Amino acid sequence: MLLKGKSAVISGAASKRGIGRATAELFASHGARVAILDIDADQAKAAAGDLPPVGHGGHIGLRCDVADRSSCASAASDVLAAFGTANILINNAGITQPVKTLDISDADWQRIVAVNMTGVLNLSQVFIPNMRDNGGGSIACMSSVSAQRGGGIFGGPHYSAAKAGVLGLAKAMAREFGPNGIRVNCVTPGLIQTDITGDKLSADMRADIIKGIPLNRLGDAGDVANIYLFLASDLSAYVTGAVIDVNGGMLIH
Ligand SMILES: NC(=O)c1ccc[n+]([C@@H]2O[C@H](COP(=O)([O-])OP(=O)(O)OC[C@H]3O[C@@H](n4cnc5c(N)ncnc54)[C@H](O)[C@@H]3O)[C@@H](O)[C@H]2O)c1
Repeated sequence: MLLKGKSAVISGAASKRGIGRATAELFASHGARVAILDIDADQAKAAAGDLPPVGHGGHIGLRCDVADRSSCASAASDVLAAFGTANILINNAGITQPVKTLDISDADWQRIVAVNMTGVLNLSQVFIPNMRDNGGGSIACMSSVSAQRGGGIFGGPHYSAAKAGVLGLAKAMAREFGPNGIRVNCVTPGLIQTDITGDKLSADMRADIIKGIPLNRLGDAGDVANIYLFLASDLSAYVTGAVIDVNGGMLIH
């Protein structure tokens, strides 16, 4: 039990095969009380209801659009009313869009940046004061191999830009809030088998992609959840401002 007695907030954790959902399940199985924040309110509630029970209170699922400051503020006030403290924040919510540079509309750019990058700032802003007042906490943020290599497989250049922005924001927050006992780190997954790619991954594409992965398989949601667990727990007590690749060797640098 690595998170016994802790409270964790995870954004984008409602979708059934997603990384956030796998993380919520893993954290609950390690003793954390979990708040699932997702734009899909019904799925968030259902997902929270399916988590294994823990001793110090029930899990909750709430609607939250991470791109919207007031939605984040209201979700945080509900979480803190229910849990009292938030020891762990996983900024996981994200969306992608497979378009090329010349086809990115203003609305595409605004939405991709708002959800993937501004969302990290919005949720961090509403939970950091509570962490600071309670002696610290751990924040882990979702970036992507797409930020590091100039494009993943399904994300457009706006997605790469937003996920690269997450790296800078997280490192700056790590520096700013280290003295308050708040650690901030990032994960950079390669291709993980979830529903974010829709039905766009054909068998041929999949075989082709695997040729470039030394560990010879695509990633699973649980591969990333395990790294979030490491970053959330005291196993990483002396780690902040770090970026952990979870890509099977797709990018070694
Ligand atoms: N799957 C991959 O290959 C991969 C690789 C690198 C990074 N990522 C990142 O991992 C994260 C999780 O993605 P996933 O693959 O599990 O996909 P997913 O689609 O299963 O999960 C994304 C979740 O975010 C929620 N969401 C979307 N917009 C939101 C908003 N505005 N506010 C709150 N919640 C919102 C969705 O409802 C969903 O539950 C994303 O940030 C994604 O960019 C995924």
